Amino acid sequence: MERAVSGVRSKRVPGERDKATTVLSMVGLPARGKTYIGRRVARYLSWLGHPTRVFNVGSYRRRQIGASQPADFFAPTNKEGRQVLHDLAMTALDDMLAWLREGGEVGIFDATNSTKERRRFVEERCRKEGLPVVFIESFCNDPAVIEANVRDTKLKSPDYVDMDPDAAAQDFLRRIAHYESMYETLDDPNQSYIKIIDVGRQVILNRIHGYLPARLAPLLIDLHVSPRPIWLTRHGQSAYNQHGRIGGDPELSPAGEEYAKHLAEFVRKNAKRDQEVAVWTSTLRRTIQTATKITRSPRTWRALDEIDAGVCDGMTYDQVRIEMPDVWAARSADKFRYRYPRGESYEDVIQRLDPLIIQLERQRSPTLVIAHQAVLRSIYAYLMDRPPGECPSISVPLHTVIQLTPTAYGCEEKRFALPPHVEDQGAGG
Ligand code: F6P
Repeated sequence: MERAVSGVRSKRVPGERDKATTVLSMVGLPARGKTYIGRRVARYLSWLGHPTRVFNVGSYRRRQIGASQPADFFAPTNKEGRQVLHDLAMTALDDMLAWLREGGEVGIFDATNSTKERRRFVEERCRKEGLPVVFIESFCNDPAVIEANVRDTKLKSPDYVDMDPDAAAQDFLRRIAHYESMYETLDDPNQSYIKIIDVGRQVILNRIHGYLPARLAPLLIDLHVSPRPIWLTRHGQSAYNQHGRIGGDPELSPAGEEYAKHLAEFVRKNAKRDQEVAVWTSTLRRTIQTATKITRSPRTWRALDEIDAGVCDGMTYDQVRIEMPDVWAARSADKFRYRYPRGESYEDVIQRLDPLIIQLERQRSPTLVIAHQAVLRSIYAYLMDRPPGECPSISVPLHTVIQLTPTAYGCEEKRFALPPHVEDQGAGG
């Protein structure tokens, strides 16, 4: 029997609704985490559907004049060096503006931009193209933060490859001192800026207007790099999984109950003794039941509920294919943007996960997220910086814990398949 249901397919390109071409220009001394912040912002905005790209002037320098330049190359008194650096910055800026002209939405200009003169220059150039500029400064004089940054990122950078770490650290500190001697912090009341002081101890917003820049504030307030695992897992096998039915609010199957025990064991083994583990579930029974051996009171999030399959809820994929061929064809053609009639698309799921992601970024203790296939694909895409359009094909099997540990520039991934092994009838690819 073929049911008549009109397919609902969003026509817009992701992000188009809110397209507001913007330049974000980083500001800060070396080793203040500018590149880290820039990349995190890029990952977040790209995931939300705003094509974003970072233009890192350090990479231009390494490519065009070679990685290892002594500290004095960066000295304000080295006129030739200053000119080379200025020209490199302008090349990166031009490339960024060209990319924005071709359809990019947010360009992140990642350089020290440490003087007022340079920042006026950047603004002027962007203004000619009709583009607003928001400066993002990382201002920090905490020696512990700077030292950690030098150790974790700078000494591993191509600038210091094959160099004795102590000599490299000395050289880098001299480079910082050169920039310090000419550094001017953001304080122009007419400029738009977000100033992050001491890694979020204080955040100043000046002339921040509009949807997109305002959306960055919650993310920037809580950025940190405390290493902690994020464990993503689907609920244990449910009665629907056994029969390949989608959606619904079924209970766990006996194999699913078994998985809940193994998961509890996994958490006990892998959490450090003194660490409290945050356990997050959806509001659906199968995730809450999966958590019961760990905690009786998980934090339940509606945002973690499975993609709403609308009129297809409770059906098998075969039923959808035969009874609603239009739905099947339209979803197969564009699984990311296809919105189930009276239900959701992956694109919708990402939007509703936004507050959860901000909260996940704040967490400093291990976090176990027990949720569902489409939702976990979307969270995984954010954490692993995968293009959102790839979400629907990310593999998130049943009875598997995906451990993601945030590092300076990404996440380390490990997967643990836990017993019992089950066939996943509903692992739509
Ligand atoms: O089959 C399990 C399930 O979680 C369904 O409830 C859900 O509709 C589906 O996976 C999402 O996966 P896909 O987007 O591949 O259909």
